[in-house]
Amino acid sequence: MCGIVGYVGSGQALPVLLDGMARLEYRGYDSAGVAVISGDAVTVVRKAGHLEELTKELAVMEVLGSTGIGHTRWATHGAPTDGNAHPHRDCSGKIAVVHNGIIENHDVLRARLIREGHSFSSDTDTEVVAHLIESIIEEESCSLISAVTKAVHVLEGAFALVCIRTEEPGCIIVARQVSPLIAGTAEGMGLVASGIPALLAYTRDIVSLEDNQIGEIRAGSVRLFDFEGDEIPVSTVRVEWNLEAAEKGGYEDFMLKEIFEQPQALRDTMRGHFDRQGRVKLDDVHWKPGVLERIDKIVVVACGTSYHSGMMAKHSIEHWTRIPVELDLASEFRYRDPVLDDRSLVIGIAQSGETADTLAAIRFAKEMGATVIAVTNVVGSSITRHADAVIFTHAGPEIGVAATKTFLAQLVALNTLALYLAQERGSMSRDKMTETIDAMNALPEQVKEVLAIQGDVRRAAKRYAGAADVLFIGRGVGMTVAMEGALKLKEITYIHAEGYAAGELKHGAIALIEPGVPVVAIVTGQKLYDKMLANVEEVRARGADTIMVAPRGDERARALANELFEVPSTKPLLTPVLDTVALQLFAYFVAKEKGLSPDKPRNLAKSVTVE
Ligand code: M6R
Repeated sequence: MCGIVGYVGSGQALPVLLDGMARLEYRGYDSAGVAVISGDAVTVVRKAGHLEELTKELAVMEVLGSTGIGHTRWATHGAPTDGNAHPHRDCSGKIAVVHNGIIENHDVLRARLIREGHSFSSDTDTEVVAHLIESIIEEESCSLISAVTKAVHVLEGAFALVCIRTEEPGCIIVARQVSPLIAGTAEGMGLVASGIPALLAYTRDIVSLEDNQIGEIRAGSVRLFDFEGDEIPVSTVRVEWNLEAAEKGGYEDFMLKEIFEQPQALRDTMRGHFDRQGRVKLDDVHWKPGVLERIDKIVVVACGTSYHSGMMAKHSIEHWTRIPVELDLASEFRYRDPVLDDRSLVIGIAQSGETADTLAAIRFAKEMGATVIAVTNVVGSSITRHADAVIFTHAGPEIGVAATKTFLAQLVALNTLALYLAQERGSMSRDKMTETIDAMNALPEQVKEVLAIQGDVRRAAKRYAGAADVLFIGRGVGMTVAMEGALKLKEITYIHAEGYAAGELKHGAIALIEPGVPVVAIVTGQKLYDKMLANVEEVRARGADTIMVAPRGDERARALANELFEVPSTKPLLTPVLDTVALQLFAYFVAKEKGLSPDKPRNLAKSVTVE
């Protein structure tokens, strides 16, 4: 969480900072601030609220200087007020720091620094860093980089730190432990940020800091050091996303744009994985010798929407490979004492590649001897460095906080992995493999057909935008869709929603049904179709209104629906790819009906880099 930008160069820092902060605002938007070195002082301007509040404030000020840092905040310690917004300063006001993460020992450090005479002006964990650096510089008369190198040994927790000091203009010092940080250079400038979109206007060659690294950023140069102060080589990764891809492209919201980009996201994610002979290729995935033959169980770990793609993967992997699959919320996984060894394959799914719980889960799995494969959308993200192998989804940058196109891309990437495992272990007939690949290849065009029913979805959204509760029910992979549909609705519309296994309803949740409660029912899976319709009858008998996601032309479903979302037919295990699109649109249109911003739902951040 939190967006960080730093600029050092020959031009003015402020416009670059504000531009980058706008592109990263999805990471946190409860307050924002900038610090710019102007002569022998640091000018700091901070404002609670969205970035536009800060921009308004800056519009009537003159903040000049060519070294600066900026921050959009997602509060962890201290309410989202002007005073708690970053950057934070030391007592002298000459050092300014922005931070993403949590300093776990902040209270001990704060007490110590207060005893030493420092005075604090915020409730944040971050402010201790500014005072700590100040106290090291006072004690040792050292440079900012030396002080930061010392400070990181004292700080506990997760941090991406970006620091400037008036006595050292022309230089930004950064440090990373767990929280993501990238850097880059362009003509006459050095840049640092917590996410790729902030740098794309200037460079596509990105330096990703690894854990326990310090960076010194100057105009035209990035140098890296380990926490002992030893210089280490810098390597860059070329990011193919362009700036336009990271902007709205004429859509009202990023979320809508990203929903409509899904056909392309699927095509790009599948590209190169299926050859003309009906074989699945994972050429970029390098397995350790013997691993594929050895696997006797698979464990999937992820959070949020990525967890839902893992739910779907459990169905397809078990069905196609006959390897047992366990599914775990990453935040629970390592605390339940799971049984893992060198015959276990752990699949870690994280669109951002930075989710703290998922990273911790896969680190734990590796310690237990398991092979770890990551599925992520972000090249150079932390998960790519922790895993033994990586499958990339190629969905392009996703800015809307609610995951949409990255979810669909995960579904096809995970199905591709499942088919590959089935092929390598000989558990699937050639005919079935070919049929399934053909069905996968048809999905991008079929998603377009689902997007074309947006009129029906918008009408239903208008009708039910006032609902207090919505139940989503499904069976088999339809339950994945129900869970994801409910998550999308609750996170962007604030309506209470629950995804439920339809067969479980009568064991409790059916008590929630009263006249007019909307129930969204996923009835596309052929195997359990009759059972699903029976569950729909049960809720209708108790007065529920039913919104049905059903195969096109299904008259039985039509007869039972108050609202009907018709989707094209595909193989049962692939139905989540199509059904989910209708429910993403439903959540989006309900949010718009309620006048809410789908891109920036309250209390959420795009990338959850704290546990
Ligand atoms: O980057 P990740 O895929 O690991 O993110 C996991 C969750 O934080 C994320 O899916 C979250 O639930 C989204 N808000 C869902 O729309």
